[in-house]
Amino acid sequence: MNWNFHLPVELVFGSGTRHEIKSYIEKIGGTRGVLVCGKSFLRNGTADAFLQAADGALVSVFSDIRPNPTTENVNACAAEMRRVEADFAVALGGGSPMDCCKAACAIARGTDNIEPYHNGDKPVTAEEAIPMIAFATTAGTASEVTNISVLTNVEAGVKKPMNHPAMYPKIAVVDPELTLTVPPQVTASTGLDVLCHAVESYWSVNHQPVCAACSVHAARLVFDWLEKAYRDGNDLEAREKMAEASIVAGVAFSHPRTTGSTPAPSR
Ligand SMILES: NC(=O)c1ccc[n+]([C@@H]2O[C@H](COP(=O)([O-])OP(=O)(O)OC[C@H]3O[C@@H](n4cnc5c(N)ncnc54)[C@H](O)[C@@H]3O)[C@@H](O)[C@H]2O)c1
Repeated sequence: MNWNFHLPVELVFGSGTRHEIKSYIEKIGGTRGVLVCGKSFLRNGTADAFLQAADGALVSVFSDIRPNPTTENVNACAAEMRRVEADFAVALGGGSPMDCCKAACAIARGTDNIEPYHNGDKPVTAEEAIPMIAFATTAGTASEVTNISVLTNVEAGVKKPMNHPAMYPKIAVVDPELTLTVPPQVTASTGLDVLCHAVESYWSVNHQPVCAACSVHAARLVFDWLEKAYRDGNDLEAREKMAEASIVAGVAFSHPRTTGSTPAPSR
């Protein structure tokens, strides 16, 4: 059995790590960025805290994103990136804002809409992409460690993933404190998403040892900690363990992928 493993994303994990946002931006050489987040983060002050901590490097906020983001959301997000001549973006959210941001970053330096890339007519190119830093706020999709964006084209009636090596975030920040406010129902559904990623990676025809080891670790954590996180959202230890499960499950399915997805390119 032949296999390889390559993940071009820096992983940063730990409570409080979000406060170092300025150093992450400096690391990727960002000067003018867009913060892409769900509306709840505008309402609860988290977006403002990010803008302050970024010390002027984030010049705009885009939050017009519905759950299960649409290609229209992505086009509007890319238009905002072009308007402010952004050279990077920060995604703050669950899978919906992260996937919207990821796809918008992939086309931000160009002039096209996302649909031809999403339907496979055009390949994403690194030249048209700007870098992205992803802050996960749910323990679920692990979009912060993959090059996958799941989008819905409402007009075509299609929801499907697109992926390209240029779509990996440069830095994935998993600060479990960001998940303390996730409501119980979302805690449960996103936690089951983690378990699905672990299981599907493990049984995939493209399974391989590094990812299988991550699958087993992540699944154990879900069995041990999901119910605790569901019953008491303020249990930081349970949130930390579920955040760990999420990112490790993300590493697990980064290569084998899930049942409905195409295999990852080797790099
Ligand atoms: N890219 C991938 O590899 C991948 C994998 C699985 C799923 N997905 C996609 O991700 C999307 C789902 O993402 P999700 O499950 O993270 O949910 P989500 O981003 O849609 O968020 C679900 C709800 O939780 C709220 N929320 C998120 N973080 C919160 C927080 N910290 N505090 C309070 N509320 C919070 C949101 O406002 C929203 O109402 C779907 O579009 C799905 O298709 C992508």
